[in-house]
Amino acid sequence: MNERPTSDVRRPTSGESGIDRAIAAIRGGALVGMPTETVYGLAANALDADAVVRVFAAKGRPSFDPLIVHVADAEQAWTVCVPSDRARRLAAAFWPGPLTLILRRRPNVPDVVTSGLDTVGVRCPDHPLALALIRGAGVPLAAPSANRFGRISPTTAAHVREQLGDAVAVVLDGGPCRVGIESTVLVPDPAPIILRPGGLTRERIAALLGEPVALADAAQRLGSLPRASPGLLASHYAPRTPMQLIDGAFPSDDEVAVLSWRGDHLPERSRAIETLSARGDLAEAATRLFAAMRRLDASGARLIRAELVPDHDLGLGINDRLRRAAGGG
Ligand code: TXA
Ligand code: MG
Repeated sequence: MNERPTSDVRRPTSGESGIDRAIAAIRGGALVGMPTETVYGLAANALDADAVVRVFAAKGRPSFDPLIVHVADAEQAWTVCVPSDRARRLAAAFWPGPLTLILRRRPNVPDVVTSGLDTVGVRCPDHPLALALIRGAGVPLAAPSANRFGRISPTTAAHVREQLGDAVAVVLDGGPCRVGIESTVLVPDPAPIILRPGGLTRERIAALLGEPVALADAAQRLGSLPRASPGLLASHYAPRTPMQLIDGAFPSDDEVAVLSWRGDHLPERSRAIETLSARGDLAEAATRLFAAMRRLDASGARLIRAELVPDHDLGLGINDRLRRAAGGG
């Protein structure tokens, strides 16, 4: 699965491998670019408040947006939060994997990780380098996506170096991310509700639990966060170039870049075109989404026009990212 030799931003100074230096960096309170199956994370020791403060500073992230704590297995998860019956079943079925559970936190989790909430988001990433880093460091890792706040999440080690190269001690290179969009964030209790659609589909969660799974609207998402600002969740995952969603044929325009679902209704003239999946495969589209947005952003277009994908399965997460990139909630 996308495994490659590790590399990092600095030249090796000894015979140590990238993973050894990454483990030492975490133990020393520094930050590591960590590959996961979803997107790259900016990881720090979740139990070290000073290290976690460095994560917020490096990202330019407001302190009222809590971080996800990454663990090597469910047993380690239950050292930082209190599992419910649903949480145990979901973890057993879907971890390692792209599912973040919001659960009541234990007192060992610093306030800065949860922005003072009495809940914490936990997930076990499905990537051998992430698991090796967590196990080697011997602590859970707080990690947001390794992008500057509000910008496009990184799906390669090079993306991390571009945006945060100066802030990290090591970037572990795990190759391009397999899933390509972030984890699904789920509040399991008292009734399951998805705060952020992502790499694990609502359909699979509902099938496992045997009950309906709600999808939070913008107000519920904001309500789940402390001192939420209206701008916090609306505009996100955004390229620098303005982005607009369209329905139907793409108009011809040499200055406009096009983000197409299957390559239908393409314009005669455009600045650049990216097709997410010519064969109409939502998993392929998710894997390609963020890198395609970055390429269009770099094309010099004055505007990116994008179309939504079908609104089911991974399409929920893809459309959420497209809407937010276009500045809508
Ligand atoms: O796939 C992922 O989830 C990636 C990789 C690195 O694991 N991480 C990621 O982290 O996307 P970040 O920080 O970019 O997004 C975390 C989301 C935010 O929307 C945050 O508000 C929400 O999870 N979150 C974290 N803890 C929460 C809590 N206690 N209650 C409600 N929402 C929470
Ligand atoms: Mg993020």
